[in-house]
Order: sequence, then C-alpha cells, then structure tokens
Amino acid sequence: MNTPLDKAISQFDQALRAVTGAVGKTPRQSPASSIETDALSDQEKTEAVRLMRVNHCGEVCAQALYQAQALVAKSPEVANHMRTAAIEEVDHLSWTEERIRELDGHVSYLNPFWYLASFGMGAVTGMLGDKINLGFVAATEDQVAGHLDDHLERLPKQDKKSQEILRQMRTDELAHKEMALSAGGTSFPTPIKQGMRMVSNLMTRTTYWI
Ligand SMILES: [Fe+2]
Ligand SMILES: [Fe+2]
Repeated sequence: MNTPLDKAISQFDQALRAVTGAVGKTPRQSPASSIETDALSDQEKTEAVRLMRVNHCGEVCAQALYQAQALVAKSPEVANHMRTAAIEEVDHLSWTEERIRELDGHVSYLNPFWYLASFGMGAVTGMLGDKINLGFVAATEDQVAGHLDDHLERLPKQDKKSQEILRQMRTDELAHKEMALSAGGTSFPTPIKQGMRMVSNLMTRTTYWI
C-alpha cells in the first residue's frame, strides 16, 4: 500500500517531469503522428514553438490544478474525477512537449512558477467545496478551449502537426468541461471568469517569450 510519503514523492516526480518537459510518450498516440507536414521556414518554426510553449504551459497548469483539487476534494468521487482528468491531461503534455522538441524549441522556463501558482489556486478553490471545485474546472477548460481556437488561427498554415494536436486537445477540453458540469459544477459568474482570464493572459504573454 502507498504511504502518504510514497504519494508525495510520486506527486513531486510527476510535477518535475511536467515542468521540465520530460513526460515522454503516453499510450495514447499523438494526433500529429499520422500527419505529414511541409518544411517550415525559420520564422514559422519560431512562431510555432512560441505558441506550442504556451499550450504546453497550459497543460502544466492543468496538471497542477487537478492534482491540488484531487488533494482537497471533499468527496472521494470528486477526488477520483480529478485524478482521472489529470491522467488524461498527461497525453496533452506529452504531445505538446514532443512537438516543441521536433521544432527544436524548449519548454517555458517559467513552468515551475506557473505550476506552483496553479497548484495554489486549485487548492484554494478546492477547499471552497466540490461544486465550486468542479465549477472552476469547467470555467478553466472553457477558457483553454478559447485559447486553442485563437492559436489554431495563429499557427503557421503549414504546421499541420501542431494544428492537429490542438484540435484534439480542444475536443478533449470541452469534454472535460461537460464532465465537470454534469458532475455538479456551478457555472461561474462573469467577474470571476474575468479575473481568471487576467491570470491566464499573464501566463500566455510571458511563456510566449521564455
Ligand atoms: Fe489539456
Ligand atoms: Fe482538460
């Protein structure tokens, strides 16, 4: 049986892999693997790396949120729900880190900071009760889907691999949102959503560059 110390060590190991881009391959194959992409110019590569770095950091934040929320969830069902979602999000981490590497880029140096910030936010909302916990997931996933739409517009047209990854992620994030709402999540009021958007804008603007 796992002791609390075993769990803490495994959680730390998972977090370290997430922030450093060392998750590696997961059983669910990347949607990009069956796609042929024309060679990209240096400028297109740079832009694709920047956008995929933002998306990778978004997945790092998702890991932190789900891990924290699972830790403080009141009911075992909700804790389980969060753990399952975290496992599914590992696929997204894996696909984005692999694509960044193929494009000769690096993951964000700010990942550790954003991991900790998201973990804190997840723990605080998680402690406000399961309905709010799930509502936070739904609101976050909704915003992530919005970001993905924006990035699908901005990615170089030739970069079909990155586009395919984002399209599959978008489908998954919207399914996560629906799952959280149907599990009893409350719909968040607009001012809270605006606050969340401000924080996520800060993340996207910083990790785009470093
Ligand atoms: Fe995701
Ligand atoms: Fe998600």
